Amino acid sequence: MTRIAIYPGSFDPPTRGHEDLIRRALALADHLVVAIAINPSKAPLFSVEDRLRMLAVAAAGDPRIELASFSGLLADFARDRNATMVIRGLRAVSDFEYEFQMALMNRKLNDKLETVFLVPAVDLTYLSSSLVREVARFGGPLDGLVSSAVADALKARFAG
Ligand code: PNS
Repeated sequence: MTRIAIYPGSFDPPTRGHEDLIRRALALADHLVVAIAINPSKAPLFSVEDRLRMLAVAAAGDPRIELASFSGLLADFARDRNATMVIRGLRAVSDFEYEFQMALMNRKLNDKLETVFLVPAVDLTYLSSSLVREVARFGGPLDGLVSSAVADALKARFAG
């Protein structure tokens, strides 16, 4: 049986925390779909195409990783892909309530879907895409927060 997992998110941009979770998820799944959710009510910093390119650098050609984007419900996307696992990161207690509700709703919408929460490396627990965007916007150092490809894209976006 092939265990297919989906790691959904905004990935705007992907951080070292996301990369850490991708690696950890590969210990549980045979095939991992890293999927950018297209949310029409959000105005992302990077286009879906840009984010897919950044995730491709993180995936580094690993054949077990597939990069995708989806609109609509995660539960439906998971059903289409025969996925039985959703991977989500838990960094702090503050993540818990939203993640807990989302996991239960996703299972209500698709009873084949279990959410697996992974904890990132301890030195990455403070990281989030929104904080990274803020640091980059004001020209702060991005070392250790994102890959050099993402750092370059952020610098270009905020240049001038
Ligand atoms: O990286 P994020 O922004 O925390 O990811 C949130 C995401 C994309 C996983 C969540 O918003 C999602 O699954 N969106 C797809 C639409 C959907 O299924 N919403 C209901 C979830 S119960």
